[in-house]
Amino acid sequence: MNDEKKTALITGASAGIGKSFAEVFYKNGFNLVLTARRTERLEALKEALLELSPDQKIDVISADLSDVDAPKQIFNFCRERNIHIDALVNNAGYGNPESFEEISWSTHAAFLQVMVAAVTELIHLFLPAMTENQYGRIINVASLAPYIPPADRGGLYSPVKIYQIKLSQGIHFEYMDQGIFCTAVCPGLTRSEFHIAANMPDVANTPNFLWMTSETVAEQGYKAVMSGKSLIINGWLNRFFALISKSIPMRVTKRIGKYLTDKRLN
Ligand SMILES: NC(=O)c1ccc[n+]([C@@H]2O[C@H](COP(=O)([O-])OP(=O)(O)OC[C@H]3O[C@@H](n4cnc5c(N)ncnc54)[C@H](OP(=O)(O)O)[C@@H]3O)[C@@H](O)[C@H]2O)c1
Repeated sequence: MNDEKKTALITGASAGIGKSFAEVFYKNGFNLVLTARRTERLEALKEALLELSPDQKIDVISADLSDVDAPKQIFNFCRERNIHIDALVNNAGYGNPESFEEISWSTHAAFLQVMVAAVTELIHLFLPAMTENQYGRIINVASLAPYIPPADRGGLYSPVKIYQIKLSQGIHFEYMDQGIFCTAVCPGLTRSEFHIAANMPDVANTPNFLWMTSETVAEQGYKAVMSGKSLIINGWLNRFFALISKSIPMRVTKRIGKYLTDKRLN
């Protein structure tokens, strides 16, 4: 029954932008493989989506992407069930807004595993079957952060997001002729659980016009990858911030970075 349907694998589907991506891909007829640590949330999302359209198939796998074995476990889970992944959304992520030195090495290492190694390995594992099929859609949910002044205590957040952007563009240009599009989706402030998880609850009080919804970010990301764009910065205001940040001198950038850090906006 489901054979001709395409399947999207979405990491971090238990909340925020990942949950919205699950909804968008599902509405566009994809079967889903959902992963995150909080399985009960994934099961609740599965139930809600199946009520909308019971003909589509949804599988759920619990995985902690800071575990080095997690990407392989997700890949094996799909292989054992004969699930071909047509679309991969590397969305799972979090912030570590502390001083570089105060963050323990094990915390840095776990962050790099989730944001760099797992993202890269998942693409490496699923890409061969995509190239064989001459169809693939890959989204890496990066951020506006690398385009705007760096926060004083931003940890490794901007560096890993730059990596995700460059990785997306590299994969896109190498494989686009084989029907594989890879897009870096770069949201600015987006309503989700991100700032609560990062212990930055006050950020929620910043003016509403600075914010986008996770639904809009996911809709725009879906359209971008389907139309073969390698990069999208979500929203005209964020694109404007990215543009003006290019022409700001370093000393002003540093002051803005400090201001943003004090306000916990970055
Ligand atoms: N919100 C923003 O303002 C914003 C702006 C720019 C970019 N982003 C990016 O958007 C992406 C999604 O963030 P969000 O805003 O939707 O945040 P969120 O609401 O906190 O959701 C984060 C998701 O990542 C998953 N996750 C975190 N650590 C994980 C781990 N070790 N293993 C597996 N899954 C893990 C969480 O699932 P479990 O906890 O259930 O495992 C959750 O589903 C991130 O990459 C973030 O950097 C967010």
